Amino acid sequence: MDIEGRRVLITGASRGLGRTLAFAFAEGGAREVFAGARKAEDIEKLSSAAQAINAPITPIKLDVTSAEDIHAVAALGCIDILVNNAGVAGYGNPLQMNFESASAEMSVNYFGALRMARALAPAMVEQGQGMIVNVATAFAKVNLPLVGTYCASKAALLSLGQALRAYLGDKGVHVMTVMPTTIDTDMSSGADVPKMTKEFVAGEILRHIRAETIDPPIGAEAQGILDGLLNDPVAMEKMIGQIRV
Ligand SMILES: NC(=O)c1ccc[n+]([C@@H]2O[C@H](COP(=O)([O-])OP(=O)(O)OC[C@H]3O[C@@H](n4cnc5c(N)ncnc54)[C@H](OP(=O)(O)O)[C@@H]3O)[C@@H](O)[C@H]2O)c1
Repeated sequence: MDIEGRRVLITGASRGLGRTLAFAFAEGGAREVFAGARKAEDIEKLSSAAQAINAPITPIKLDVTSAEDIHAVAALGCIDILVNNAGVAGYGNPLQMNFESASAEMSVNYFGALRMARALAPAMVEQGQGMIVNVATAFAKVNLPLVGTYCASKAALLSLGQALRAYLGDKGVHVMTVMPTTIDTDMSSGADVPKMTKEFVAGEILRHIRAETIDPPIGAEAQGILDGLLNDPVAMEKMIGQIRV
C-alpha cells in the first residue's frame, strides 16, 4: 500500500517509536496522521512540533484501554492505516513480579489492539481496503524470560493478527504484525544491549507497509531469531531462556 494520500492513525504516539512513526508517515506523504496520546501536555507538544514543520499530524486523546476514547476514534471516518503501537512492558519472573503489571500488558498490548481493530476495521471493509499494523517483537515467537509476560502479551497480539488476517484478508484489508528486537526508547532504557534507532525501525515499517509483507522481522537480530527457530527451535528457546532475572 502506498503511504501517499493515506489517512493514518497511530496509537502511543506521545514518544518513542510511535512519535517517530507519526513524523515518518507525514514525511512519506500521508494526507492526515492522527497521533494518539494520553496526556494533554503530550498532545500540545505534538501539535507544536507538527505545526513547526507544517506536518499534517493531528494529535488526538487516545488511551487504548478507554472505551470512550476508542468510541471517539471510530467517528473520525475511514482510516486507511491503523498502527497498533501503544505498548507497556513489565519486567521479571512471571511467578513473582507485580501481577497488575502483567495484567496491564494484556490490557494495552493485546486488548488495546483488539479494541482498535474492532473500532476501525468495519470502515476499512466498507471501503474495500485498509491496513492494520501491529507492533509486536521477535520475542513473540520465542519467549525472553526477563520480560516473559510482556512477550506472552505480544504472542497473543501476533496470534490475533493471524485471526484478523483470516477475516479481513479477502475484504481488501491487509494485516501485518511487525517483529523488531530492542529499540532505543524509554521502554528499553534499562537494557544494556545493542539497540536499533527509532528512525531505522520506522523506516523499515513503512517499507513493509508499501510491500504489504506478512509479519516481518525488523532488523538483523530479529531475522536471526526467526532463522534460528526454523533451524532448531528447541536450541533457540534454550539459548534465549538463559536471559532471565
Ligand atoms: N523499545 C523496544 O525495545 C521495543 C522492542 C520491540 C517492540 N517494541 C514495541 O514498540 C512499541 C512502541 O514502544 P516504545 O519502545 O516506543 O516504548 P515507549 O517509549 O515506552 O512508548 C510507549 C508508548 O505507548 C503509549 N501507551 C502506553 N499505555 C498506553 C495506553 N493505555 N493507551 C495508549 N497509549 C499507551 C505511551 O504513552 P504515554 O507516554 O502516555 O505513557 C507511549 O506513547 C510498543 O508496542 C513496544 O512493545 C518496543
